[in-house]
Amino acid sequence: MENGGGHRVAAIAVPLLAFALLAAAFLGGGGGAESPASRERRREHFLRHVPHEPQKASEASRTMSAGTQHAAGKVSVGPIEESLAWSRAAIRRAAREAPATAADSARRSFKDVGDAFVPRGAIYRNPRAFHRSYLEMERKFKIWTYREGEPPLAHLGPSADIYSIEGQFLEEMEDPRNPFAARHPGEAHAFLLPVSVCNLVRYIYRLNTTAYVAPMRRMLADYIDVVADRYPYWNRSRGADHVIVSCHDWAPLVSEGNRELYTNAIRVLCNANTSEGFIPRKDATLPEVNLADGILRGPTFGLPPENRTTLAFFAGGMHGHIRKALLGYWLGKKDPDMDVHEYLPAGQDYHALMARARFCLCPSGFEVASPRVVESVFSGCVPVIISDGYPPPFGDVLDWSKMSVAVPSARIPELKDILRGVSERRYRVLRARVLQAQRHFVMHRPARRFDMIHMVLHSIWLRRLNVRLPY
Ligand SMILES: *[C@@H]1O[C@H](CO)[C@@H](O)[C@H](O)[C@H]1NC(C)=O
Ligand SMILES: *[C@@H]1O[C@H](CO)[C@@H](O)[C@H](O)[C@H]1NC(C)=O
Ligand SMILES: *[C@@H]1O[C@H](CO)[C@@H](O)[C@H](O)[C@H]1NC(C)=O
Ligand SMILES: *[C@@H]1O[C@H](CO)[C@@H](O)[C@H](O)[C@H]1NC(C)=O
Repeated sequence: MENGGGHRVAAIAVPLLAFALLAAAFLGGGGGAESPASRERRREHFLRHVPHEPQKASEASRTMSAGTQHAAGKVSVGPIEESLAWSRAAIRRAAREAPATAADSARRSFKDVGDAFVPRGAIYRNPRAFHRSYLEMERKFKIWTYREGEPPLAHLGPSADIYSIEGQFLEEMEDPRNPFAARHPGEAHAFLLPVSVCNLVRYIYRLNTTAYVAPMRRMLADYIDVVADRYPYWNRSRGADHVIVSCHDWAPLVSEGNRELYTNAIRVLCNANTSEGFIPRKDATLPEVNLADGILRGPTFGLPPENRTTLAFFAGGMHGHIRKALLGYWLGKKDPDMDVHEYLPAGQDYHALMARARFCLCPSGFEVASPRVVESVFSGCVPVIISDGYPPPFGDVLDWSKMSVAVPSARIPELKDILRGVSERRYRVLRARVLQAQRHFVMHRPARRFDMIHMVLHSIWLRRLNVRLPY
């Protein structure tokens, strides 16, 4: 998690036609011991995603656009950009408001009166900025979902199993009641490419060791060619206001089928591996949700802390190098505190074991994402995220360091010491925050305020705010 910052800084070099303007104040320095200034910067991390206000933006654009086709001087601004500029300014103002006192925010952190939920408390990087941004999104954000393409390759994705979020999201976006659906493309801030990479894999993929992704890449590239030919929207932004949402492990590979999709568009991916071209400022992490039977369920509290008798729990296959390191080290130890399994013995209930462990291990598998992050949150178990180069979902809004434990894969042998080192008091605070975060990981159909689908939309909204386009 911590090294996500470095990648984010490096991401400025990405050649977007419509250059994204980052708040330069938050991008200086880095590395070494944490100074109060850098702590502040991390606290305000959310702001990195909010560009300058328009006046400053035009100054910055004069310097940044030297050498591009944008001439120095006045940049023309259309109605879409103008309304987004208002939102950016409102979010920045909210972010600067005096923070509530600690006692105040603790008292109000669980306040929830019907629809009037107000995000408060330490799980949010900046609750005021998030709240304002969320309200701005509700007020104006419109997405156009292209109508082109036929199911099952477009407009339909899996709605059960580990990639279920892909189908669930598409279904929600295609629902005529969706308040975020644009009535016509002219009013849209963003454009969804409703192609399902899972279904490309299911219907197009044939085992061919020399060229297994090529046909899927071609299908996706063809889809973009069709909409780019039929409408002006792709060409005018070179894809920068276009969105693809996929949970499949191969989605990053398949998205290379179109260069502009890969480098400019907002890719919302479960496989958010920053070592494989995922750029947190432009791309967003999609939570992986294992809906074995496709039924949407609510979270539970699990057992109270005093009844959580296992220190750490994990069960899962030997997939990928991180799992090999984890199972390789802990399986043979037979340490009663470390309830680590490759396959659970018959008769043991996976979710019940999570509900009585203090910590649930969420290591990367074949790829970085693990459905265990959401499963832990759902069973009131503090997640231990064991991964490298994986920005956890909604990390632009949620401060995962306040509700989970991050362990780089190199420190797997120290896991027990790290977890025993968490004091009882700290543990109870972490767990209470996990429960507080549950609402953001629940799916509803139709989606509800602040639930997982709307949080995914909010991730897209923030990425869209990062891009300044002239219309
Ligand atoms: C595998 O892909 C290559 C390149 O597209 C193609 O030439 C070859 O015929 C394919 N092989 C099979 C068995 O489909
Ligand atoms: C967009 O650009 C492509 C490639 O240059 C071109 O084929 C297509 O016709 C353009 N679309 C429109 C609507 O002009
Ligand atoms: C927790 O443990 C106590 C005894 O230590 C027991 O009385 C209580 O019923 C347990 N609670 C739950 C929810 O299991
Ligand atoms: C992330 O990508 C890097 C570079 O391709 C790769 O070495 C690493 O194994 C990936 N992480 C996981 C957990 O698969």
